[in-house]
Amino acid sequence: MGKIIVEGGNKLVGEINISGAKNAVLPILAATVIGGKQSTIFNVPNLKDVDVMEKILISIGCNIKRIDKMMWIDSKPLDSIRIPEELVREMRSSIILMGAMLSRIGEVIVSYPGGCEIGPRPIDMHLKALRELGAEIEESHGYIHAKTKGLIGCEIQLDYPSVGATENIMLAATKAKGTTVIRNAAREPEIVDLQNYLNKAGARISGAGTSVIIIEGVSKFNDVTFNTMSDRIVAGTYMIASAITEGEIILKNVIIDHLQAIIVKLREAGSLIYTDNNSLKIIGPKNINSIDMIQTLPYPGFPTDMQAPMMALLSIANGTSIISETVFENRFKHAEELIRMGANIKIFGKVAIIKGVKELTGAKTTAKDLRGGASLILAGLSAKGTTEVENVYHIERGYEDFHIELKRLGANIKKIG
Ligand code: UD1
Repeated sequence: MGKIIVEGGNKLVGEINISGAKNAVLPILAATVIGGKQSTIFNVPNLKDVDVMEKILISIGCNIKRIDKMMWIDSKPLDSIRIPEELVREMRSSIILMGAMLSRIGEVIVSYPGGCEIGPRPIDMHLKALRELGAEIEESHGYIHAKTKGLIGCEIQLDYPSVGATENIMLAATKAKGTTVIRNAAREPEIVDLQNYLNKAGARISGAGTSVIIIEGVSKFNDVTFNTMSDRIVAGTYMIASAITEGEIILKNVIIDHLQAIIVKLREAGSLIYTDNNSLKIIGPKNINSIDMIQTLPYPGFPTDMQAPMMALLSIANGTSIISETVFENRFKHAEELIRMGANIKIFGKVAIIKGVKELTGAKTTAKDLRGGASLILAGLSAKGTTEVENVYHIERGYEDFHIELKRLGANIKKIG
C-alpha cells in the first residue's frame, strides 16, 4: 500500500513545474471515444487515476500509446459496451464514460462508481439528464445499463452545478440531434478545457465557464492534438507547502486566474504572493494568521479540494478559524488524523472550528482520501518529529511524484513500500 515518512521542520525552497490537471484530462480522455478518431493529448499527468482511465479505454477496444506526458488514443476500434467493474470501483469519474459511450455507440453498461470516501456522491443528476436526452436507463443489481437509438438535444436545468453531471451532459449532447442547453452548469475551468478539446475535435459548444452551456449536435469529427491545462489544486497544494514551512517556492506553468480564491486566502493567512504571467512566487509567513471563515463553494468560490490542505495550515495559525464545507458531506476525515498530530479541531456537521496550536507533533496517520492524504503530508512538513502517512495510493491518484518533488524542494521525506 505504501507509506510516506516525513521529518518536519525544513523550509521548502525552489521551483516547481505544475503538472496537467487530473480533473481536466479524465473527461477529455473519456471524450476521445466520441468521434472514433485519433487524439494526441499532451501534458497528461502521470497519476493512478489516469492509469485507470487508460486501462478502461484499452478494455473497450481503443489503441493507446503513452510516452512520458503524451497519450495517443485511436478510438476507432472501440468494440465493447461494458466498462469493467473493478476499474469503475477504483475511480468514480469513470461514470463520465456514460455520456461519451452513449454518444459513440448508443449503449453502455457500467457498475455503480467508487472513488473517494467523501460522502454519498450520488449520480442522480447524471442519470436524470441522460434520460432527458433520450437514454433508456435500467438500474439493477449494482449495474446501470443505458441505451438509446439516438439522443435528442433538449433544455436541462441542473438542481446543483455538478462538475461531473455538466461534463457527462456535454459528452452525451456532442453528437445528439439538435441543440442542448445546460442551465445552472458548473463553471469550473476544467469544463472550459473539455469544451476546448471537444471543439477542436469537431464539436460545436459554447458557454463553458458560464452557467449556461450550449451544445449544437454534430456528426463529423476529426483527429485532434490538445494540451491539457495546468492543475490548480496541485498548484494550491504546493502553495500551502510553502506557507506552512515558511518557505519560498516559485510555481511555474500555472494559470493565475484559476488560483484567485486560493491566493486571497493564503494572503489573508500572511503569505506574500507575487504573480507573473504563468508563474507565482509564494513566501510563507513567520506567523500564520487565522482566517475567520472559509466556505467551500463551486467555482469561482474556494475549492472543496483545497479544504483539507487549508485545514492543515490553519491548525498552526495564531487564533481560531472556521471552515464550512458546503460541497461534499463527510469531507472532514483528515481532521481526526490532524488531531492525532496535536491539532485542536472540532467538527459540527459541515463546519470545522480550528483553534491554532503552536506546533503539530509527528504521529502515525492514515490517508483516507486524496486531498485529506495530501493535507497530512503538509502537516508533517511543519510538525516536530516524524509523521507517517499510510495508504499513500490515495495521494498518488492526484499528485505526480509528490514526495520526490517535496524532497527536491528541501523536505526530509521518503516513501516506503
Ligand atoms: C469533481 C471533481 C472533484 C471536486 C468536485 C467539486 C473530478 C474528477 N472530480 O467531482 O475533485 O471535488 O468536482 O469541485 O472532476 N451530486 C449529487 N448528484 C449528482 C452529482 C453530484 O447530489 O448526480 C452532489 C455530490 O454528492 C456533491 C456535489 O453534488 O455533494 C458536487 O459534486 P460534483 O460537482 O458532481 O463533483 P464531482 O464531479 O464528483
